[in-house]
Amino acid sequence: MARHLITSAIPYINGIKHLGNLVGSQLPADLYARYLRQRGHEVLFLCATDEHGTPAELAAAKAGKPVAEYCAEMHDVQAEIADGFGLSFDHFGRSSSPQNHALTQAFAGRLNALDLIREVTEEQVYSHTDGRFLPDRYIEGTCPNCGFESARGDQCDNCTKQLDPTDLIAPHSTISGATDLEVRETKHLYLRQSVMKDQIEEWIDTRQGWPILTTSIAKKWLTDGDGLQDRGITRDLDWGIPVKNGDQDWPGMEGKVFYVWFDAPIEYIACAQEWQDVGKGADWERWWRTDKGADDVTYTQFMGKDNVPFHTLSFPATILGSQQPWKLVDYIKSFNYLNYDGGQFSTSRGRGVFMDQALEILPADVWRWWLLSHAPESSDAEFTWQAFQTDVNKDLADVLGNFVSRITKFCRSKFSEAVPDGSYGPAEKALIADLTGKVAQYQAHMDAIEVRKSAAALRAIWVAGNEYLQAEAPWSTIKEDPEKAAAQVRLGLNLIRLYGILSAPFIPTMSRTMLDAMQTDDAWPDDVATALETLKPGDAFTVPDNLFSKINDDQREDWAGRFAGTRD
Ligand code: MF3
Ligand code: ZN
Repeated sequence: MARHLITSAIPYINGIKHLGNLVGSQLPADLYARYLRQRGHEVLFLCATDEHGTPAELAAAKAGKPVAEYCAEMHDVQAEIADGFGLSFDHFGRSSSPQNHALTQAFAGRLNALDLIREVTEEQVYSHTDGRFLPDRYIEGTCPNCGFESARGDQCDNCTKQLDPTDLIAPHSTISGATDLEVRETKHLYLRQSVMKDQIEEWIDTRQGWPILTTSIAKKWLTDGDGLQDRGITRDLDWGIPVKNGDQDWPGMEGKVFYVWFDAPIEYIACAQEWQDVGKGADWERWWRTDKGADDVTYTQFMGKDNVPFHTLSFPATILGSQQPWKLVDYIKSFNYLNYDGGQFSTSRGRGVFMDQALEILPADVWRWWLLSHAPESSDAEFTWQAFQTDVNKDLADVLGNFVSRITKFCRSKFSEAVPDGSYGPAEKALIADLTGKVAQYQAHMDAIEVRKSAAALRAIWVAGNEYLQAEAPWSTIKEDPEKAAAQVRLGLNLIRLYGILSAPFIPTMSRTMLDAMQTDDAWPDDVATALETLKPGDAFTVPDNLFSKINDDQREDWAGRFAGTRD
């Protein structure tokens, strides 16, 4: 059995994420982690909150709390919601952890020793009223490119152009609104990515079979040159990881912190240390150091497409630049965007469904199923209430739920709450042969992390059972041939078990309900024919509660109105 390290892009601490964020990294990562565990592999699945940078400081200020306190609270909120969605992280860490502080400073020290860091004196906007520099989102003004009036210091949200605070026309502080700004000199550290261009390009070229979305973004950044210019890795902020040269002070860098995008990916590593330090695991280096056993680990990262440049270029530059035997990523699974009802999800405008709200109105599995079966893989996807209602009602109620309830209730009323006896005939054998092929297909798609295709293959497995039941109709058979009906029901009960096992990566709670009702184990079916003989005549089962109640039109309309904008 193999060893798999899996990470999901770590969500920013500033607020609860929407369903578009969820389906772009954490949820598919969980699907894959659950699947690999079920297949008997050793898995370490890590995620964390991304706690530094201006968004964290600004959100804390808005909440009227000290930033450390705000982050601690929001971490717990995000952890609880993640749990509600069944995200099976082995550890949900924090980029502000002491482990990440030490590791980030160690990386900087190492890169500096290898002459990969240079000090640059540059001009930054200083606010007299606020008594501080105004990097990134601390400053807004008019975009020099498109004239948009609320462009931020790091980027214009209207035309997406990357900006420097000094580019803005008529700038003001977003803390105080102050306009008594001046350009001052300040010293910063730059990672000399430009000298690593060939090395990174070569490394990317050795990555066989990466998704097109991933490699095309990486290549574009490499060839356009934008991505591999030297990169500023420090900021004039209070909150963050203090700039140090290993464990030594860095003269001239007092009061400065590392840039959030420098320390955030390092948290993938520090998180494994945290996992060990809280007593959940041991030997963390076995997952991360190729000199300590990690050379046989397969490392897969999940993320939205906007994160790809940081994971294909910047973070590898940190790792390769260190010349230390850290594990590099083997496969990057990236996603397009999920849109919401004719527009975009918007955190600032509260448009769309956010993770906490989703759990208030429906069970996690319903969301998991719809989101994963519509994962934005080859292009952007769109959530509409109409499609959501139609799809989940059909798949989870009409197909899966109905199958489970019909078989179990019929057996209870005509036989008993135990598996009846009867031997499989030609129709059963044909179904088993068909399912053998379908299960192999499902596995192949799951192995390839083809999320939508996996969902379609799983649905086809459910549908095959339904069609069998419809065609064989034990409720009619029983009148002429009770033994034949008994065989049909025995197969049906075994199918419920099979569905419970195969569906668990997508809908873990419903799967648990099915398996508990069948009072059985969850061993992966290496051979479908054998698996469908597992429940033996006489084995007891119970009739489970309805797996899923349909969404009705009133609910749909109510929710569509409720999530159209402005979250309170
Ligand atoms: N917080 C970032 C986002 O939500 C992702 C950081 S991923 C990491 O876009 F690599 F930096 F960890
Ligand atoms: Zn613009």
